[in-house]
Amino acid sequence: MGRLARVYAAVVVAAAAVAVAVVVVKRRGKGTKWGKVREIFTEVERKCATPVARLRQVADAMAVEMHAGLASDGGSKLKMLLSYVDNLPTGDEKGLFYALDLGGTNFRVLRVLLGGKEHRVVKQEYEEVSIPPHLMLGGSHELFDFIAAALSRFVETEGDEFRIPEGKQRELGFTFSFPVKQLSIASGTLIKWTKGFCIEETVGQDVVAELTKAMERQGLNMRVTALVNDTIGTLAGGRYEDSDVLVAVILGTGTNAAYVERANAIPKWHGLLPKSGDMVINMEWGNFKSSLLPLTEYDEALDFESLNPGEQIYEKLISGMYLGEIVRRILLRMAQESSLFGEVVPQKLEIPFILRTPHMSAMHHDSSPDLKIVATKLKEFLGIQSTSLKTRRLVISICDIVAQRGARLAAAGIYGILKKLGRDTLTSPKQRTVIAMDGGLYEHYSIFSECLNNTLRNLLGEEVAGTVVIKLANDGSGIGAALLAASHSQYLEG
Ligand code: BGC
Repeated sequence: MGRLARVYAAVVVAAAAVAVAVVVVKRRGKGTKWGKVREIFTEVERKCATPVARLRQVADAMAVEMHAGLASDGGSKLKMLLSYVDNLPTGDEKGLFYALDLGGTNFRVLRVLLGGKEHRVVKQEYEEVSIPPHLMLGGSHELFDFIAAALSRFVETEGDEFRIPEGKQRELGFTFSFPVKQLSIASGTLIKWTKGFCIEETVGQDVVAELTKAMERQGLNMRVTALVNDTIGTLAGGRYEDSDVLVAVILGTGTNAAYVERANAIPKWHGLLPKSGDMVINMEWGNFKSSLLPLTEYDEALDFESLNPGEQIYEKLISGMYLGEIVRRILLRMAQESSLFGEVVPQKLEIPFILRTPHMSAMHHDSSPDLKIVATKLKEFLGIQSTSLKTRRLVISICDIVAQRGARLAAAGIYGILKKLGRDTLTSPKQRTVIAMDGGLYEHYSIFSECLNNTLRNLLGEEVAGTVVIKLANDGSGIGAALLAASHSQYLEG
């Protein structure tokens, strides 16, 4: 063989070797790690899709369920609970009032000195206490005693500027952020627990009576003059600031919405006709369920293994308690079926609720070139020692799918309420509609809130969107509860 022929032969052999190598890589790509990862990812992406047409249907279904829930007791998954709040704050409220806000892993105690139209909120102080997890699943006495004890300690720190007039009892607005069937403005029975709380003996009980007994056990002389859901508190607090507030939405550990309904839209079976023309309704929209909701196997498994299977399906797609957990479940499947994080599945990844939504949010917002926040969080919370850039990018994409689905569905829910109120089109004369928003998910997860705002704008169209405002009402529910305690004070004349 001449030199040229030898070179040619060598080139052919080398080319053949490369060809074989390419085939091998291709085969491996399809059958192993990344091929399988891609397969799982594409399926998640497809099942979580929320095209605008689907969102419009979800909004319509929400509006239909609102009508059905109002029309008859148990007529819908939406409870549409009467709040007994038929006069929202006017600004005239005066005096010292306390509020207690129970609804998540923390509760807040708050005191506020209201100075009427002229002086508004003169002074306020608050304290936040975290609830030991065992109390969320323990006995009723234990939980209420813990809360009353914290409230009692807080009252002891009351400074001179807050003193109440001699002989008067301190009054409290109790924000209890669970579904309650109100019996009056200051009493109501718990329908069920949500958000990881589960204390069977309290279901069906009057929560104000439970708290009052616990306060008595602590020797605390205080009277609950308003019992409100956090949505109602937020609506009241929002209205105090802006008279165009008509809707309140909570996007935090849990999710819910409330709105102002016209009295003539509330059927008589409710047994109560509001004095004025309006009544605030607590929708309990977290329990919304529809075949239109884009559910995946991960959501179904999460629901099945939850403390409240079959309940709060919309909440389980949207709220802060669950978003991180959905991401964990997707990553776990990828780890198990495609060794995404190495041959051994990281043990921590198997622990339910270990990946919390704030961790997910931190990863999702990582804009560093090598995604080092993603790497750190995966190491810190899931014990995953090292990850490639490709893996980190994948994690972000999964966070994106899950967060966008939640935000878009929440926007559809809001759009549904606006439809029910006739505020999805331009009114004549043009009216502003303000939505008071509260909750850590909306406040801190900016990709989520931006997506929600853009989706709502898109659903409404530019012109109508110009009349709808979402206002962040930071802890509006605490002040709102205090304001409602004031407007229902036992010392009010008449
Ligand atoms: C509860 C609602 C509450 C919402 C937001 C839900 O789990 O059922 O009553 O308003 O969480 O806190």
